[in-house]
Amino acid sequence: MNKTIREGKAIITVHDEKKISKDLEVFYNPVMKTNRDLSVAVLKAWNRNHLQVADLFAASGVRTIRFLKELPKRKIDLIAANDYSAKAMKQLKQNLKQNKLQKDKRIKITKKEATLFLLQSNGFDYIDVDPFGTPVPFLDAAAKRLAREGILAVTATDTSALAGAFPDACRRKYSAMPMHGPIMHEIGLRILIAKCQTIAAQYDKALTPIFSYNKDHYMRAFLFCEKGKTKVTEVQNQIGMFTYDKQTAGPMWLGRLWDENFVGKMKIKETESEKLLKTIQGEMIIPQVGFFDIHAICKREKLQIPKYEILFGAIQKAGHKVARTHFSLNGIRTTMEEKELIETIQKIWS
Ligand SMILES: C[S@@+](CC[C@H](N)C(=O)[O-])C[C@H]1O[C@@H](n2cnc3c(N)ncnc32)[C@H](O)[C@@H]1O
Repeated sequence: MNKTIREGKAIITVHDEKKISKDLEVFYNPVMKTNRDLSVAVLKAWNRNHLQVADLFAASGVRTIRFLKELPKRKIDLIAANDYSAKAMKQLKQNLKQNKLQKDKRIKITKKEATLFLLQSNGFDYIDVDPFGTPVPFLDAAAKRLAREGILAVTATDTSALAGAFPDACRRKYSAMPMHGPIMHEIGLRILIAKCQTIAAQYDKALTPIFSYNKDHYMRAFLFCEKGKTKVTEVQNQIGMFTYDKQTAGPMWLGRLWDENFVGKMKIKETESEKLLKTIQGEMIIPQVGFFDIHAICKREKLQIPKYEILFGAIQKAGHKVARTHFSLNGIRTTMEEKELIETIQKIWS
């Protein structure tokens, strides 16, 4: 059974399945709406036009359709919608028709294996890698075909490897030790970023995150590409190990997860995605690695959990920056050291 739904400005027909899995005839996951909302927001905020875009794993075509309908016409000169599944191709063509895009000269539809497709291409300014599970098998070709000053957008849904449930899988795929505990998702995201950077470095391409996040069952990073050995060294100098609560993880990206200037320009009107973006716009001013889990700290120190408004006020009064983090409901990002933070909570209750 099929159903027709609306996501952003796209109207698409998808299979009406209760369980979302990679065994769907044509994959469409409504939970990934935020992933697509934020991709549109990144492309909108980017001060470049006339882009060559690759939607490597196009599936139903929802991403391609949203890019074409929601971005100004000048933004995209060509978009390649690729997927190796014949069923996906059929659905994608129907969905293009449904959105009156079947005659749009900017779209090039291909049914190829993703790596092969990239290697046979002349390259792209924006490559969206949104596969099932790990993106690792596709990163080498994507790094090779990413244009100078381009953006590589990467999704990883293998969070069990990146966030430490299966450390051996993380070591195999990402050549890194993950972390388990309160900050595991931030660490996983940083490991994913370092993997992309290390692969691109081979081709003298420096990838710097401009916007990245963790949500639901996935991690996502938008990486800006600059060419040159000096830039690559600058990036590599910010890859290393990180220790938190006596656990050491990495190698991972230790630099900024967000380009403040860029993220400051991002706008979104969809409620859930807007909430996530707003939290990130708040926390990006405190770019250090990791954050404090207030519940874990209070449990360990046998303290009552304070109200966040009161705690934030006390931290700011002491001259420090503080913000919520999108990585965890119990997390706060602050320039205050842990010892002082504990003393601050103790003072609230004294
Ligand atoms: C997670 S879905 C993509 C979802 C899509 N990007 C979206 O936003 O709705 C993965 C898609 O990639 C396709 N696929 C998986 N491996 C592939 C490969 N090696 N080459 C090309 N397509 C592939 C599958 O057929 C599936 O449609």
